Amino acid sequence: MRCNLLSLAAASALVPHALAWGTVGHATVAYIATGLIKNETAAYCKKVLGDQSANVLASIASWADSYRYEAGGGFSTPFHWIDAIDNPPYSCDVDYDRDCTDAGCIVSAIMNYTTIQRVNIAAGTIEPDSLKFLVHFLGDIHQPLHDENYGAGGNNITVYVDGSKWNLHAAWDTAFITKITGGTNITTAKAFSTRLLASIQSPTGVYATASKKWFRSSLKDPKAAAMKWATETNNYVCTAVLPQGPLAIEGKELNGTYYQVAVPVVEEQMAKAGVRLAAWLDLLVTGSTPFLGCPSKRAVRAVPLVV
Ligand SMILES: *[C@@H]1O[C@H](CO)[C@@H](O)[C@H](O)[C@H]1NC(C)=O
Ligand SMILES: *[C@@H]1O[C@H](CO)[C@@H](O)[C@H](O)[C@H]1NC(C)=O
Ligand SMILES: *[C@@H]1O[C@H](CO)[C@@H](O)[C@H](O)[C@H]1NC(C)=O
Ligand SMILES: *[C@@H]1O[C@H](CO)[C@@H](O)[C@H](O)[C@H]1NC(C)=O
Ligand SMILES: *[C@@H]1O[C@H](CO)[C@@H](O)[C@H](O)[C@H]1NC(C)=O
Ligand SMILES: [Zn+2]
Repeated sequence: MRCNLLSLAAASALVPHALAWGTVGHATVAYIATGLIKNETAAYCKKVLGDQSANVLASIASWADSYRYEAGGGFSTPFHWIDAIDNPPYSCDVDYDRDCTDAGCIVSAIMNYTTIQRVNIAAGTIEPDSLKFLVHFLGDIHQPLHDENYGAGGNNITVYVDGSKWNLHAAWDTAFITKITGGTNITTAKAFSTRLLASIQSPTGVYATASKKWFRSSLKDPKAAAMKWATETNNYVCTAVLPQGPLAIEGKELNGTYYQVAVPVVEEQMAKAGVRLAAWLDLLVTGSTPFLGCPSKRAVRAVPLVV
């Protein structure tokens, strides 16, 4: 869709569950969002996080993965996933009432930290932690094994990648991304994000058309938004993560066909997470986002605050 005011491009101006997308995955999502958010949104993030650099979101993208191990941070551990009790590869689905425990889950966490950030924006107060949690959890929710209960989210399934032993969860979090990018640090993430941003923003990019439909959510219903993202991501457990069930991959080398199927899924999930994070932050900070289509046709007013 072309808009009079802004085109998409112009608008850019064994522990139970290991770490999530590793450092590179989370920083990649953050850099993609940084490349897509409005200037006003970027200025807000820089102010709240006290960092005027272009790495402002990438630098804090993995904070939640260390915070959960700090004194007083343990309560946030279950916020990194929702353990869908489905039956891959035969059926995949996420059910909030069935799968989100009393201790919370990634869907309730996104609801909670969206509300906390909104309350602070409305009050004009600075609250960095809820922003850091949102940057992290919008990444995690796009990792298929963060939306799956089987084998503790794949943590108990042993696999090999290029001869090295991994658990399936960590293979998706880290091993595949390292194999795709060839690196393990934030510089790697910057380069990876540049490639994925081009796939979104270039008129001939592989996500040029599809990405315009990736965000259709409203701040009025963060639960529906997060459930949509979790459900869509969980579907990949049946098609790409455990397509022939766990026994087909237990103890096996994944660097052949399995990896070739996984790569486009990993890359699209990074890109989707970046677009959705950008749109979510734009909505929070400014009340509108070009990702919903033409600003002239959509409400530019901020959504009324409902606490
Ligand atoms: C947004 O910021 C960039 C530089 O950070 C600048 O080039 C661009 O003109 C700004 N866009 C608007 C609409 O102010
Ligand atoms: C919401 O976040 C706050 C601050 O981290 C936390 O204390 C509280 O337990 C969370 N509530 C829910 C329901 O997740
Ligand atoms: C992994 O967990 C699944 C259930 O989620 C169980 O059926 C399986 O036996 C476990 N495998 C190992 C090796 O512990
Ligand atoms: C997969 O890994 C094995 C073990 O390291 C290696 O011998 C093989 O060449 C790799 N295959 C591919 C396609 O990379
Ligand atoms: C990132 O790793 C590369 C090697 O893969 C290295 O050259 C570079 O200095 C590292 N950058 C940072 C910021 O650590
Ligand atoms: Zn995480």
